[in-house]
Amino acid sequence: MSTAKGIRIHDVSKFYGPVTALDKVRLDVKEKEFVTLLGPSGSGKTTLLMVVAGFATPEAGFVAIGERDVTRLAPFRRNLGVVFQNYALFPHMNVCQNIEYPLRMRRIPRAERARQVAETIASVRLEGLEERMPSQLSGGQKQRVALARAMVFNPPVLLMDEPLSALDKNLREHMQLELKDLQRRLGITVLYVTHDQQEALTMSDRIAVINEGRVEQLGPAAQIYDSPANRFVAEFIGETNLFRATTLDASESNLAVRMPNGDCTAARTCCLLHSGQQGFLSIRPEKLSFVNGNAGSLCAMKGQLENLIHQGDTIKYFIRPKGFDSEGTGGLVVMKMHNRGETPKFLPGDRIDFGWRPDDATFVI
Ligand SMILES: Nc1ncnc2c1ncn2[C@@H]1O[C@H](COP(=O)(O)OP(=O)(O)O)[C@@H](O)[C@H]1O
Ligand SMILES: [Mg+2]
Repeated sequence: MSTAKGIRIHDVSKFYGPVTALDKVRLDVKEKEFVTLLGPSGSGKTTLLMVVAGFATPEAGFVAIGERDVTRLAPFRRNLGVVFQNYALFPHMNVCQNIEYPLRMRRIPRAERARQVAETIASVRLEGLEERMPSQLSGGQKQRVALARAMVFNPPVLLMDEPLSALDKNLREHMQLELKDLQRRLGITVLYVTHDQQEALTMSDRIAVINEGRVEQLGPAAQIYDSPANRFVAEFIGETNLFRATTLDASESNLAVRMPNGDCTAARTCCLLHSGQQGFLSIRPEKLSFVNGNAGSLCAMKGQLENLIHQGDTIKYFIRPKGFDSEGTGGLVVMKMHNRGETPKFLPGDRIDFGWRPDDATFVI
């Protein structure tokens, strides 16, 4: 199927009484792209999906599917596939009938219906279960029926709101890969909602980080993780260390900052800055390393090891920095290293130097 179309969300605002659920949201999803809305509970993800689906009307802005402005169009006329969190299958219909339902609604002739249902059943791997009732299916199978029902009529866009959240961890991870594979194979445009960052990182071509009805950052997983646009994104995606810092020189090509212990260092940033601006250096725990003697090109700090935790594949070190506080738990710095089976070189109480490459530090406000 190649009916895929892009989605254009332009300056969409939505209010519920005094609550601003969406605040001038601008977001383009390209044809055949998988974009995920990722954000905390109450950030406006479902509202945005409902606006695209047509179940909620925005107070301002417009939504286009392909070239067509659909802002005032009834949901069924938008012809979109929608999968909700509680995938609500019709309990009195078997698998085949559930999947066939949207085709009946569209008055597709019987032979054509049978062909499309069979094709969709094969693509979501439900062969052999056609006659089962929903009550006789596992969670993952029900999820696949809901998906099949949403895509059987070749919609130009598939909208999914936390479709895997009811599944247990193993099945969820399996379904993430399956869904992603299916989307790629069939070339479907997907706008997906989750509050689970691992899910977003696994599945998405691009992620839109949503907070308080605004898109804080839009980009591929690596960009969101390595170059967070602001403090919210830095803290919401993965783990990070935040060190207070003030900009010294903020010309376009070069950013220099001063740390509270007086040290100066270079960093990257996505923010527009002037000098003297206060903010934070965000450095991921795995980007820190121990410094032995000569720090070379690393930016090095002194500290004392407070604790270390084995986490199976990784070892986490908690360091009390000297001369400044981290914004993290108890002012400590967190460092994460692969567990290569060696005995840790340091013990709690040891003085240690740690450092990072300036390229691995992002200045955020
Ligand atoms: N029908 C509604 N009536 C009033 N407030 C609503 C309604 N739906 C959502 N909200 C509010 O809008 C905000 C965004 O909600 P929602 O889009 O459901 O967030 P999310 O899906 O990210 O958890 C929240 O503050 C929520 O309480
Ligand atoms: Mg929601």
